[in-house]
Amino acid sequence: MKILQDAFARSVRYLETLPERSVQPSTAAIEALAGLDGPLPQEPTPEQEVLERLDAVGSPATLANAGPRYFGFVTGGALPVSLAANWLAGAWDQNAHFVVGSPTAAALENRALAWIREILELPKSWGGGFVTGTTMGNFSGLAAARHHLLGTLGWDVESKGLFGAPEIQVVVGEEAHTTLFQGLALIGFGRDRVTKVPVDDQGRMRSDSLPDLEPPTIVCLQAGNVNTGSFDPIIEIAPRAREQGAWVHVDAAFGLWAKASPSTAHLVKGLEQVDSVATDLHKWLNVPYDAGLALYRDPEIARRALSITAAYLPEGSERQPCDYTPESSRRARGVEVWAALKTLGRSGLADLIGRNCELARRFAAGLDKAGFEIGNEVVLNQVLVSFGSDARTREVIAAVQLEGTCWCGGTTWNGRAWMRISVSSWATGPEDVDRSLRAIIAVATDC
Ligand SMILES: Cc1ncc(COP(=O)(O)O)c(C=O)c1O
Repeated sequence: MKILQDAFARSVRYLETLPERSVQPSTAAIEALAGLDGPLPQEPTPEQEVLERLDAVGSPATLANAGPRYFGFVTGGALPVSLAANWLAGAWDQNAHFVVGSPTAAALENRALAWIREILELPKSWGGGFVTGTTMGNFSGLAAARHHLLGTLGWDVESKGLFGAPEIQVVVGEEAHTTLFQGLALIGFGRDRVTKVPVDDQGRMRSDSLPDLEPPTIVCLQAGNVNTGSFDPIIEIAPRAREQGAWVHVDAAFGLWAKASPSTAHLVKGLEQVDSVATDLHKWLNVPYDAGLALYRDPEIARRALSITAAYLPEGSERQPCDYTPESSRRARGVEVWAALKTLGRSGLADLIGRNCELARRFAAGLDKAGFEIGNEVVLNQVLVSFGSDARTREVIAAVQLEGTCWCGGTTWNGRAWMRISVSSWATGPEDVDRSLRAIIAVATDC
């Protein structure tokens, strides 16, 4: 077991040095990845040598997104306890498909699910499945919607497929996330066969522009626009849509967690009125990749749509973890989710979400004071900033990444280039924001 002790020592060293190294790996480190190439060895390699090589070549070429000053995409850093739980779960090596395959994994999933329902103030009758991320969470919600809407019309879609099936109208906001379209493509609805609803200047679906929602219709809402952090008005749209017989799905990759903090909970008002929700756990709950969740108002519909074992058999007395996901063999994602929630508690989670939002406002205020344009209402943890022309903004983004104090990505919003800052990590403190502000402003002034 020396190899495991060595891996542990190397991991701790990696994490301890992270806050002071460049967030962006150097070009030399990336070029050195070529050192991992070569033919498949004919003979075994000593495991110690393998680990040494991984650490020597792999570690320096990583982005320091587990550290405190990575603000790219929407990326949490794994809470130490969630990483520790992940290591333990790795040692357990459980297959979390059925209860019989891992009573521990199933019990932890059940408890984590119950706690998440409690945080979201959803009734106990809601169920869910742990998936790889929101992309698969959206896919799962759409599969449940497809099963339900076509089943109501007497069409057994799991047996007959979509050939000759009644058409389903799919309604999305103009600013729906690109991965929702991936789900629509995979589920057989098509990326382009959608009705797009106009949005306001923050990317929120305009409830006064909804089309006729005659059944069968799926309405896909969004909680947390990846650029602005804004929310579709769930409370205005969901009850109306359900009244007309539509299935309402919410892509809430990171926005769902707004519910955990009293300062932002109002943004997801009406959540209990929808049919399915997809979210990420690896983003704002700060657990390791890959972890997401599909939540269902009626879990039995999801089970019938997704289960490999008993699509048309009555549910047994126990919840089988894989029955609510499109997967069979799966890692025990509930372990680190349970550990994160148990450690944070309600107040710790509220603090994490509230603090990140406050730090996003600190970023926006600092950049605004320095004379740069802020492109969004900072309602959550996302900030858009422009440094002038698109070309100049892109130049500043590249220079900030190269300088290495922090890492922010680029995006296009309302036809213009912006730098996007996402504050999503437990590790980020005010001093990290101030240090990053100094670096960004200095780089932008020099560019
Ligand atoms: C709104 C939204 N939906 C879906 C996704 C996709 O999530 P994942 O990559 O974890 O599947 C993202 C990722 O940023 C997102 O912001």
